[in-house]
Amino acid sequence: MNTGNNDIIANKNDETEFDAFRAELGEDDFRKFSSYIYEQFGIKMPDIKRVMLQGRLLKRIRDLKMSSYTQYREYLFSPEGQRKELYNFLSVVTTNKTDFFREPVHFEFMTEVALPEFQQQGRRHVALWSSACSSGEEPYTIAMVLNEYANAHPGLTFEILGSDISQNVLEKAARGVYPEKAVAMIPLDLKRKYLLRSKNRENPTVRVAPLLQKNFSLKYLNLMDRVYDIKEEFDIIFCRNVLIYFDRETQEKVVQKLCDRLRTGGYLFIGHSESLSNMDVPLTNIKPTIFKRI
Ligand SMILES: C[S@@+](CC[C@H](N)C(=O)[O-])C[C@H]1O[C@@H](n2cnc3c(N)ncnc32)[C@H](O)[C@@H]1O
Repeated sequence: MNTGNNDIIANKNDETEFDAFRAELGEDDFRKFSSYIYEQFGIKMPDIKRVMLQGRLLKRIRDLKMSSYTQYREYLFSPEGQRKELYNFLSVVTTNKTDFFREPVHFEFMTEVALPEFQQQGRRHVALWSSACSSGEEPYTIAMVLNEYANAHPGLTFEILGSDISQNVLEKAARGVYPEKAVAMIPLDLKRKYLLRSKNRENPTVRVAPLLQKNFSLKYLNLMDRVYDIKEEFDIIFCRNVLIYFDRETQEKVVQKLCDRLRTGGYLFIGHSESLSNMDVPLTNIKPTIFKRI
C-alpha cells in the first residue's frame, strides 16, 4: 500500500537517475573540468581522456547520489564542493600507479654512487624527498635502502619526506598496509626485516615495520604551487612518473622549484619515460633519468 507505492516511486527515481548519469560527459562539462585540472594541478587532460574522466567521475556521482556531470561540476566548483569534494575529485583524476622498488636503477645509484660520495664529502646526515609519493611504496623503498646502508655505515643518519596532492594516497601511505602481492618485488631478506605479516589468511596484507616510519614524514604538496612550503634542502629528490602529466612549460617550472630545494651536488631522479632536455635548469645529466645539481 502506502509503503509499496513509495517503493515503486523510489525504484523509478533510481532508474531515472541511473539513465541520466549513464549519459556522456558533454563537451562543455569536459572542457570546464579539464581546464580546471590543468590550471590548478598542471595535469593535461586532452580530448582523448574524455572517456577515462567520464568513467572515473561516474563513481563520485553515484556516491553522491547526483544525476548528471553538470550537477557534479556545479557542486565541485561551489565553496562547499571545494571544501568537501576537492580531495575526492583529485583522487579520481590522478593516476597513482606505483610499486616497491620501481625503476631500481635509482636505488642502486643511491647506494653505489650518491651515498658513498656524500660520506666522502663528510656529510653525516642526508635528507631525501619523494615528491609525488603516491601510496608510499616509493618512500618506504627509500627507507629500506637507507636503513640497510646506515646499518653498514654507522654514523649516517637520514630523514625522508613523501608528498603528494592526493589525500587518499597519503592516507594509504600513512597506514603503511599493503596487499601481500604488492610486495613481490621486495627482496626476501628485506621483507623479513621490514615487513610484518597480517594473520588474516583470506585477505593477506603486510604492514611496514615501525622502524621504516622513523624519521619519515608525509605531507600534502601540490607541485604546481608557486612556492613550496618546505624549508629544508635535500640531498636526493625523487620526482618520478609525475612530470609526464604536465606540459613542457609546467615541467620546467616544477623542476626549477625542485632545484631550489636540492643542495648543490645533490641528485634528482625522474621517471624512465620523462626527459629534461632543453630545459633551463641548473642540472647536469649523469645517466638517463639521473641529474646532479650544479
Ligand atoms: C603515477 S604516480 C607515481 C608515483 C611514484 N613517484 C612512482 O614513480 O611510482 C603519480 C603521482 O603524482 C601525483 N601528482 C599528480 N599531480 C601532482 C601535483 N600537481 N603535485 C603533486 N603530486 C601530484 C599523483 O597523485 C600520483 O600519486
